[in-house]
Amino acid sequence: MDEATVDRLLAEQRRYYRERAPEYDDWWFRRAGYVLDTETAARWFADVREVEAALEAFGPRGDVLELAAGTGIWTRHLLRHADRVTAVDAVADVLDLNRARTSGAADYVLADVFDWEPPREFDVCFFGFWHSHVPRRRFEAFWQLVGRALKPEGRVFLVDSARLGDARHLVSSTGEVARRRLSDGREFDIVKRFWEPSELEREAAAVGWRLSVRTTANGHFISASGTKAR
Ligand SMILES: C[S@@+](CC[C@H](N)C(=O)[O-])C[C@H]1O[C@@H](n2cnc3c(N)ncnc32)[C@H](O)[C@@H]1O
Repeated sequence: MDEATVDRLLAEQRRYYRERAPEYDDWWFRRAGYVLDTETAARWFADVREVEAALEAFGPRGDVLELAAGTGIWTRHLLRHADRVTAVDAVADVLDLNRARTSGAADYVLADVFDWEPPREFDVCFFGFWHSHVPRRRFEAFWQLVGRALKPEGRVFLVDSARLGDARHLVSSTGEVARRRLSDGREFDIVKRFWEPSELEREAAAVGWRLSVRTTANGHFISASGTKAR
């Protein structure tokens, strides 16, 4: 994929999340168009509890940076541990929802992560359901940004989709491009890269990170924690 195509896709991805903002949480909480049958819902919510417990065990303490923070589904958890949370997202409507959910308790920054410099070094950098939206061409630059955002001993934690997902909003997918549909029928092309744990550990190691990645028991999500390799 050439640079112009990547730029076009990333712009469409920002537009998609702007338009999806009012319905984003329905996917995570399995409401409205995303309701699951009882058994499938039980497996989904068991995996949700598993990734939430993994974040609890990690303990995102100190000065915490959240990239692509969204509507605050994870910001609310980070705030319980951190002294301070800086929540960055490229979509103003999304950040407004986050601010409302978290009662203004974080610092909210409207910025494109591919065009933003961290103002200081943080203790922890967290991103939920964002790494899969980073195109191959921006992978190394993204991890370099995470590196600049962290103190030398700083820690990273990410949560993301595993391949077994709910395909309800998926129209088609080709390579790293997925076509998604909103509840009103509008369609958008975005980036979606699924990572096997061993592949992510290997590719992150190649750009200077030591990550430990695992998949949840029912196969919906991955979580990863780590530090810069020394
Ligand atoms: C899949 S959502 C994840 C939201 C949140 N982290 C969560 O797990 O609930 C992806 C988020 O990335 C944001 N986003 C899209 N492109 C971005 C960019 N270039 N820079 C920063 N945020 C971006 C969207 O607005 C959206 O909130």
